[in-house]
Amino acid sequence: MSYNLLKGKKGIIFGALNDQSIAWKVAERAVEEGATITLSNTPMAIRMGEINTLGDKLNASVIPADATSVEDLTNVFKVSMEKLGGQIDFVLHSIGMSPNVRKKRTYDDLDYGMLGKTLDISAISFHKMIQSAKKLNAISEYGSIVALSYVAAQRTFYGYNDMADAKALLESIARSFGYIYGREHNVRINTISQSPTFTTAGSGVKGIDKLYDFANRMSPLGNASADECANYCIVMFSDLTRKITMQNLYHDGGFSSVGMSLRAMATYEKGLDEYKDENGNIIYG
Ligand SMILES: NC(=O)c1ccc[n+]([C@@H]2O[C@H](COP(=O)([O-])OP(=O)(O)OC[C@H]3O[C@@H](n4cnc5c(N)ncnc54)[C@H](O)[C@@H]3O)[C@@H](O)[C@H]2O)c1
Repeated sequence: MSYNLLKGKKGIIFGALNDQSIAWKVAERAVEEGATITLSNTPMAIRMGEINTLGDKLNASVIPADATSVEDLTNVFKVSMEKLGGQIDFVLHSIGMSPNVRKKRTYDDLDYGMLGKTLDISAISFHKMIQSAKKLNAISEYGSIVALSYVAAQRTFYGYNDMADAKALLESIARSFGYIYGREHNVRINTISQSPTFTTAGSGVKGIDKLYDFANRMSPLGNASADECANYCIVMFSDLTRKITMQNLYHDGGFSSVGMSLRAMATYEKGLDEYKDENGNIIYG
């Protein structure tokens, strides 16, 4: 169902890989709500993924960019303004990747070169994106910039590894840049902290099945789906949220505010034995 919330607005969606991607759902909803958009991802993701199919379906140009390259990002904003005919009203940063997670390096055995890549791809790219846009004066007054985050930025989750540090930095960039861009051009910058979701990036998180199930049971409203996340992004891009900025907004069915549920406590009680591996060593987790 369309409410025409983005009628006449122009947007850029970064990070749609396949039809499971949160960015994919956001792109579809944005067009359904009346926006015209461009899409961006890495050249490799464009080749390996299905973003061209999405571009054809939504009549959206696909512009290649590695989000760690200021030059590439600047080009995305320039080309998008040309194709869409003017300043951009909304941007989605839906990008995350940790080489340490991929290579199964644990948090107490990080490769620091890889940590640098995690932070650059998953967090500093957000700064680069906003700075490139601001230098080009590419975002309209009261434009809205959103990045996707996760509650591991605030609380420790076993297996989320150095992505937790990246998300903490991402959320901090939203506040720091939100102040400057808001003061100068009324541009809003926020992060949406989403429930665990089965996507390509999500499946890289250690124990995602159990984490998904745990979060789902602990949240009074259950986990938020990718489609529901898309709805929330649309509201944040719309004129209905013009005074919301510099916030980390939880979209998690209430998970982040729950301490302990009765059901979880009862389940926990059943297994108070120490968690040991086959050699009898305690598994910390
Ligand atoms: N899936 C979850 O459980 C979950 C929960 C909370 C937040 N998030 C966040 O949502 C965002 C989107 O992830 P998703 O779950 O839709 O998975 P996804 O795998 O579909 O999307 C991740 C995207 O990042 C892109 N990317 C990786 N390196 C890049 C680079 N150098 N330059 C440009 N793009 C690059 C990938 O090509 C891919 O399109 C991420 O920031 C992720 O951390 C995901």
